[in-house]
Amino acid sequence: MKSSTNIVKQVYEIDVLSRENIMNQKGLVLWFTGLSGSGKSTLANEVETQLYQNQKHTFLLDGDNLRHGLNCDLGFSDIDRKENIRRVAHVANLMADAGLIVLSAFVSPFHSDRLEASKIIGKNRFIEIFVDCPLSICESRDVKGLYSKARKGIISDFTGISSPFEAPINPTIKVETDTMDLKVCAKKIISFISQYHV
Ligand code: ADX
Repeated sequence: MKSSTNIVKQVYEIDVLSRENIMNQKGLVLWFTGLSGSGKSTLANEVETQLYQNQKHTFLLDGDNLRHGLNCDLGFSDIDRKENIRRVAHVANLMADAGLIVLSAFVSPFHSDRLEASKIIGKNRFIEIFVDCPLSICESRDVKGLYSKARKGIISDFTGISSPFEAPINPTIKVETDTMDLKVCAKKIISFISQYHV
């Protein structure tokens, strides 16, 4: 993977702590993982709105949106998903270094990729949020019509249908969007991260 050589890390005069202090918050990454249609984006938007209302500096990275730009060269093979998550983890890490509270909403179906992301970002500021919702419910919602296409074989490697989703075994936070109200899920997350003095 690494092909650049003869490069030396430069020291930044302004460090993370200085940037966090001036912003009066801690850099943090809220990593939402779950099936397509589980409610990751909706929930991340709700949490971001509440943080924004509390005068917090945030940024939302959403799988569908990043795949229109930075990651538009990637598909949905295991290897492309790995690269998708690797790039996003680095972007989220830089944004957290800038002092932002980053909300990242990606299916991120593989344990190994999420673990790698947590290492890139730093385990002390990586909050894994499992947006849990049964496949049958996600499929019945089928907001984007993708499950129907996946069942017909029009879309290949579709998470939950023709590609696996490895549910987090020990997520920092788990919300069940089929039974819990959106505001309740958001409250659970906001009250958890308040211990980080964000
Ligand atoms: S990830 O697996 O690499 O993390 P990502 O979150 O970026 O996926 O993108 C998932 C979104 O792409 C889904 O919400 C869905 O709208 C769309 N999509 C299109 N094809 C697929 C597919 N084969 N599997 C999963 N999602 C897909």
